[in-house]
Amino acid sequence: MTHTRAVETSALRWLAPPAGPAVVLLDQTGLPAEEAYLTCRDVSSLEDAIRRLVVRGAPLLGVAGAYGVALAAYRGDDVAAAASRLSGARPTAVNLSWGCARALAAYQAAQDGAGPVSAPSMDSERSAARACLAEARAIAAEDAAASAAIAAHGLALVPERARILTHCNTGALVSAGEGTAFAIILAAHRAGQLARLWVGETRPLLQGARLTAYEAARAGIPHAVLADSAAASLMAAGEVDLVLTGADRIAADGSVANKVGTYGLAVLAKHHGVPFVVAAPVSTIDFAASGAGAITVEQRPGREVTSFAGKAVAPAGSGAYNPAFDVTEASLVTALVTEHGITQPVNTGTLQDLGTTRETGVGALSDVSVER
Ligand code: MRU
Repeated sequence: MTHTRAVETSALRWLAPPAGPAVVLLDQTGLPAEEAYLTCRDVSSLEDAIRRLVVRGAPLLGVAGAYGVALAAYRGDDVAAAASRLSGARPTAVNLSWGCARALAAYQAAQDGAGPVSAPSMDSERSAARACLAEARAIAAEDAAASAAIAAHGLALVPERARILTHCNTGALVSAGEGTAFAIILAAHRAGQLARLWVGETRPLLQGARLTAYEAARAGIPHAVLADSAAASLMAAGEVDLVLTGADRIAADGSVANKVGTYGLAVLAKHHGVPFVVAAPVSTIDFAASGAGAITVEQRPGREVTSFAGKAVAPAGSGAYNPAFDVTEASLVTALVTEHGITQPVNTGTLQDLGTTRETGVGALSDVSVER
């Protein structure tokens, strides 16, 4: 694992042999102060990077997991074991295990097609590794396309001269494209529809203040960062027209797991009559999870809460409660924007329809509005 000074800001890229194989990550823990890259040459270093949030955000975790499986294949490691380790690095964002499973399936299918697994030849191993890498590239390309479609669909939900409040980070740092919720915000900005972006700081790790504000500043978006606890009075003052967030996992009944604090914003939005809209690719929907109870919420180290920028802010020995995510019930979600269109209302029936759209490919990149 080596750090180098950044000369570009792509959040993740594959480094092919002979310089690789490796997965090169923009180290998001140092942003916005430092743009440095981390080169992961084995699965352990990538797994560690995922746990430490060097690379993060649901869609990009799917891409990272798939490239990690390809890395194992190129190195001649145990590919199934690598997929399992990477999948388990963070439990809530379903894209991570989904991306690993897809890359592993591509590897295994290539192996199965190449002859008996008992005596795999050098050539069959190489072509299975190539198939695995091709799948990782396909996942990245699909994510970029989904991101563009989400932006196009979501723009319809943004009022003129909108003041949008967002939480956590959902831009190019979490995607192979321009992101999810942030891609809509960018589209609104380009269309002249955005008056102001309110950025919730997103304690404890400040993905809003550090990352979303960084992305907004680079895009020239007029924005202001607020303490998470200021969102209530901001809404009460009538300063928010739309709350727009991403998602890390959406259950089959429409329950949305997203960065901790999202649920509070959804409740506030309901109270103040402000639409609460979620944007995510369909790869974030976990149809195997029936509802909120089936979503594992990652618990992170207490020191993330009891310290700030490496300095203790609570007395030594204080306990901490540090769930990385919370779950918002579907009834609080005004609409879900995916690459297939706008789903409104959000419930088991409309998500089932969306699942069918995904399987058949019907409606992709077209405006599918579901009413039930
Ligand atoms: O813990 P993180 O930084 O990986 O958090 C995930 C997120 O970025 C957010 O929850 C986001 O809103 C959904 S992922 C686009």
